[in-house]
Amino acid sequence: MTISETALTEIKDLLGPKGYITDPAAKALFMAEWRGRSVGSSPLVALPRSTEEVSALVKICAKHKIGIVPQGGNTGLVEGGIPDDSNSQLLLSLSKMDKLVEIDPLDYSMTIESGMPLYKAQEHARDHNRLFPLSLASEGTCTVGGNIATNAGGIHVMKYGNMRDLVLGLEVVLANGEIWNGLQSLRKDNAGLDLRNIFVGSEGALGIVTRATVKLFPRPRAVETIFVGFEDLDKGLRLLSKLREECGTSLTAFEIIPKAGLELVLKNIPDTRQVLDNIYQWHAVIECWHDTSLNDGIESGPLAQAIADGFEADLIVDAAVATSDSQKQDFWKLRENLSEAQREEGTGIKHDISVSCAKLPKFVAEAEKRVLAIHPGTRILPYGHAGDGNLHYDVIRPLDMDKDSFFALKQQMNDAIHDLIADMGGSIAAEHGIGALKADEMERLKPAIDISLMRTLKHSLDPHNIMNPNRVIKA
Ligand code: FAD
Ligand code: MLT
Ligand code: ZN
Repeated sequence: MTISETALTEIKDLLGPKGYITDPAAKALFMAEWRGRSVGSSPLVALPRSTEEVSALVKICAKHKIGIVPQGGNTGLVEGGIPDDSNSQLLLSLSKMDKLVEIDPLDYSMTIESGMPLYKAQEHARDHNRLFPLSLASEGTCTVGGNIATNAGGIHVMKYGNMRDLVLGLEVVLANGEIWNGLQSLRKDNAGLDLRNIFVGSEGALGIVTRATVKLFPRPRAVETIFVGFEDLDKGLRLLSKLREECGTSLTAFEIIPKAGLELVLKNIPDTRQVLDNIYQWHAVIECWHDTSLNDGIESGPLAQAIADGFEADLIVDAAVATSDSQKQDFWKLRENLSEAQREEGTGIKHDISVSCAKLPKFVAEAEKRVLAIHPGTRILPYGHAGDGNLHYDVIRPLDMDKDSFFALKQQMNDAIHDLIADMGGSIAAEHGIGALKADEMERLKPAIDISLMRTLKHSLDPHNIMNPNRVIKA
């Protein structure tokens, strides 16, 4: 049912002319999912400027039973941050709630409004000689609220954890408009159930995050960045295990890049260059962030030593040590553009999976067999956060196949990959979440008791199903 004129008038009166958008062209910017795969519609985009406005707005929506889709930077990859196409949901953008509330360098904590872009949160920390370690290729646009709602991962999870590990306190507007203020910077608080973590990763389906207190860290004293080439994934994972042993908790990133992926980036992304003598079957960007300075210089740091041992053990065939920031950026450009490079080929059938690290080679080998059995000419890109057991497994259209025929294979490809993941005890949503895109798939694969518990939680916190309806868990 569409949103009534009465409700729209109440919303406009509440927010005032600067607090909402109805112009179709201006609204359109909020309605398309990042990859452009799907587009939603809403009669109005709400731009609240405070927790109190969000609360009052939710009360109007609760009264009129209007579904609310919260949106941060709209970089989500599971269609969770855009409305459906029924034109009956309200898009609530947090983009005007982007202020720094408080930063306490002594306490290593910072409180911000949830619409703050991630890169701004990183900057505020840096301005106070502190580190906010979450880092994603979308950090120029994604918001801390969206990071919390999706429990974002990124490239530093090995050392600093997911967003869940970085949140100390939350302020959330609940489905009845009440404000839960759980903002605090305590590192220990076992007084009752863990309310904070119910909302982290809930993708807007349980409440709207309006402010957050996050952990800060000391800035690293030295960073080693090395780009390696290796011939098979087994050896790559044995190298990872060795590095964990030899570098301990300073090991911060282990991001893998397959041959086909590196070739696509070099072909489609400007200002990229090969950083090794050759292109190998596999590559990895590896980083160690050290809490103490390296007395003997970056080229003989613990990671460089461990990589030398990796050569001895015949685990790698080539390596380059970054001795300047520009070299470091060259290495990261090859990794962070793996998604962008695909767009030139017409975005693929993408998966965001995780298994235990040691099982990655088995997954990649078996998945390739299953995908090629569906269509032999398919190009496959397994890449990303191998250190967390998380790969982006993107299946790309063969050059001699038209888009429609290729995407007609989507369900078959998804079933093949997701059934394999289920058999291996892995996850089909390692870091991007479920959104609208994977809600059915999750119900198909998760045990009934998991779904029933999620539904119980959803019903008790959002009995009228107005919080991001049909995302994550269907009412
Ligand atoms: P949006 O897309 O606006 O929303 C995402 C979800 O959160 C939606 O369900 C929305 O309803 C909900 N939401 C947003 N704000 C709030 C709020 N304040 N309260 C309640 N719910 C809210 N993700 C990773 O984890 N790791 C990566 O390495 C990574 N790399 C990426 C690279 C690129 C190029 C792109 C485009 C995306 C990448 N992502 C990655 C996915 C995406 O950036 C993350 O999921 C990010 O956390 C989304 O933040 P956002 O502000 O854009 O959220
Ligand atoms: C990444 O790690 O590059 C993203 O999570 C994957 C993507 O953008 O598809
Ligand atoms: Zn990722």
